[in-house]
Amino acid sequence: MMGYKVAVVGATGNVGREMLEILAERAFPADEVVALASPRSLGTEVSYGDKTLKVKVLEHCDFSGVDICLMSAGSSVSKEWSPKIAAAGAVVIDNSSCWRQDADVPLIVPEVNADAVAGFRKKGIIANPNCSTTQLVVALKPLHDKAKILRVVVATYQSVSGAGKEAMDELFSQTKAVFQINEVEPKKFPKRIAFNLIPHIDTFMEDGFTREEWKMVAETKKILDPKIKLVATCVRVPVFIGHSEAVTIEFENPISADEAREILRKAPGCLVIDKHEAGGYVTPYECAGEDATYISRIRDDPTVDNGLVLWVVSDNLRKGAALNAIQIAECLVNRKLIQAKQKAA
Ligand SMILES: NC(=O)c1ccc[n+]([C@@H]2O[C@H](COP(=O)([O-])OP(=O)(O)OC[C@H]3O[C@@H](n4cnc5c(N)ncnc54)[C@H](OP(=O)(O)O)[C@@H]3O)[C@@H](O)[C@H]2O)c1
Repeated sequence: MMGYKVAVVGATGNVGREMLEILAERAFPADEVVALASPRSLGTEVSYGDKTLKVKVLEHCDFSGVDICLMSAGSSVSKEWSPKIAAAGAVVIDNSSCWRQDADVPLIVPEVNADAVAGFRKKGIIANPNCSTTQLVVALKPLHDKAKILRVVVATYQSVSGAGKEAMDELFSQTKAVFQINEVEPKKFPKRIAFNLIPHIDTFMEDGFTREEWKMVAETKKILDPKIKLVATCVRVPVFIGHSEAVTIEFENPISADEAREILRKAPGCLVIDKHEAGGYVTPYECAGEDATYISRIRDDPTVDNGLVLWVVSDNLRKGAALNAIQIAECLVNRKLIQAKQKAA
């Protein structure tokens, strides 16, 4: 049986590299994988399992033979290229924020709304949510099914890898500069990130919220339930990989911490680590390289009638980006929504 031809756009980036690793790890049925990036990366090499791929330039790629294109090169690249790639007959799964609120583009987290994936036919594009939204909705969905969520208050603690590879370099070089008593120079971040926190991710909006905070509201509504009220404070922290979230949830119906623990233990994509002792919870350092959304510190909220408080942690490059995109591609394949062009020919 012929497999699929898969293109990865942004293959030299944090998310793109992880996509190549996960495609190989999960033995995605690809006959050919093409690594694409900007002209800056022409000829550089990236790993795909135990193979090495030479990076090609996006502009030079003929997409007519490509079945699935995993896009991870930012909004402006996606805005220009996703429609062209879709017009050439490939299904685009895009990681940027460009298409997430487009009514004709499904926004998918397979554990939550896999059935909506069939909507890709309208534009040939499927959007992958923001990293902080993805792990949140994986944890919220089974609780919403049980007791109906009315309101969520979330504070995020987001790692620097969420801002790309230059941001990771900046945390590393600033940390080194602090130890060497050199001057610390912010470039990518608006303030020093080493040994600090920055309560600002993405741009500011007129109402004082940041776009990252707005994305969590709008995307949770689109993926899970438009009736859910949500307010977020998004904070960048000096962690390389792994986003953490302190989540307070108010429900319409009663649900106890014990019940929630049992529900989440059985929920797809969730792993509960919740012992009431030192170290009986998950930290971002431990979740790096892992696929699950970890849930710890599950407590009853004594300030409302039906409320819970949770700590949710996940690898933002995997479930928050690359893994979710590949799970979407697996949905297309498993549900027979696409056919390999080579096979069809
Ligand atoms: N990091 C996360 O946790 C996360 C989570 C969800 C979504 N996302 C989204 O995923 C995307 C990529 O993020 P990242 O963290 O991987 O960024 P990154 O590490 O900065 O990598 C960016 C990638 O895009 C490529 N690129 C840039 N301009 C290009 C162009 N004109 N043509 C072709 N390729 C181009 C770069 O290629 P060169 O190396 O050649 O410059 C590089 O491969 C962004 O849209 C981001 O918002 C990221």
